[in-house]
Amino acid sequence: MGTVSLESFRVDVERLRAEAVAVLGAAADDAGLEQARIEFAGAKSGRLKGIQKLLGGLDGADRPEAGRLFNEAKGAITAALDAAQVRLAGAAAEAAAIDVTLPGLPFRLGHVHPITQTIRRVQEIMARLGFESVDGPEVEDQWHNFEALAIGAEHPARDPLDNFYLAVAQGADPLLLRSQTSTVQIRVMEQRKPPLRIVSLGRVYRPDTADATHYPMFHQVEGLLVEPGATMADLKGVLRFLASSFLGGDVHVRFRPSFFPFTEPSVEFDMEWGGRWVEMGGAGMVDPAVLAAVGYDPAEVSGFAFGLGVERIAARRYGVADIRDFYRNDVRFLQQF
Ligand code: PHE
Repeated sequence: MGTVSLESFRVDVERLRAEAVAVLGAAADDAGLEQARIEFAGAKSGRLKGIQKLLGGLDGADRPEAGRLFNEAKGAITAALDAAQVRLAGAAAEAAAIDVTLPGLPFRLGHVHPITQTIRRVQEIMARLGFESVDGPEVEDQWHNFEALAIGAEHPARDPLDNFYLAVAQGADPLLLRSQTSTVQIRVMEQRKPPLRIVSLGRVYRPDTADATHYPMFHQVEGLLVEPGATMADLKGVLRFLASSFLGGDVHVRFRPSFFPFTEPSVEFDMEWGGRWVEMGGAGMVDPAVLAAVGYDPAEVSGFAFGLGVERIAARRYGVADIRDFYRNDVRFLQQF
């Protein structure tokens, strides 16, 4: 006769199973679950193990049924343990997840730099007059920066102290960072036949000491029109339209006699804005020698060209006293525009 009856074994197994399933189902965290696991399913002294040991005390005839009861309970407890693990892992993931109901952080939007804004605005105004926007290289040869513009070898504008010449191989043609956008006049005329209307806005470089009105790198607007019968009156009309559209209101333009090797006659032009005459740039009728140098017939077409500083008109328009502020990359300054 065994020392354990099948009935008492059944009662013990069912009780343990019920208790284990309840405790595991209620475990609130990993530590609680681990404690319950050890108590019920611990390999050495878990309570399931204790029940298993009773099997030896049963009658041989009762053992198959007792073993079945035991395995059933063990399976149920293992399933409850797995379920509790899955439940706690899910809760942890949920706690770590982003709370999509929280308000977002404001995203700081940037905007276009005031110099670029100015460039785009000038391009847009000139486009209304039929001037196509074109680009030219910033590294130039002597032909486009000087010679084709009738700036001869002895001209002081070619002085190494007034230009950024690049180091080139001995005997190679000197290259430099362009000192003016008038280079683009030549590049376009070399490639196209008149009539043409182009505007080119870009960087130019001169070894000036930076101060409130100078910077070793700045931007120019270059305009060029070549057509049969173009005159100084057309030049003045275009400049006045540009100035009025850009600055707002009716801006007057005045010419003062000047000299540029590639225009004849040459002028400096001023704009009257805010009750003051302000120097804006240089201009003139394209010298017939320049037209001839690019293969145009000066008897058939004439043209005008003008150049002005982008920083200068941007400073005017936005009331900026020091052009160095445009390049300091200080958002407190830039975000105002
Ligand atoms: N390129 C001249 C300068 O930089 C300006 C200019 C442009 C003058 C076109 C006449 C015609 O000073």
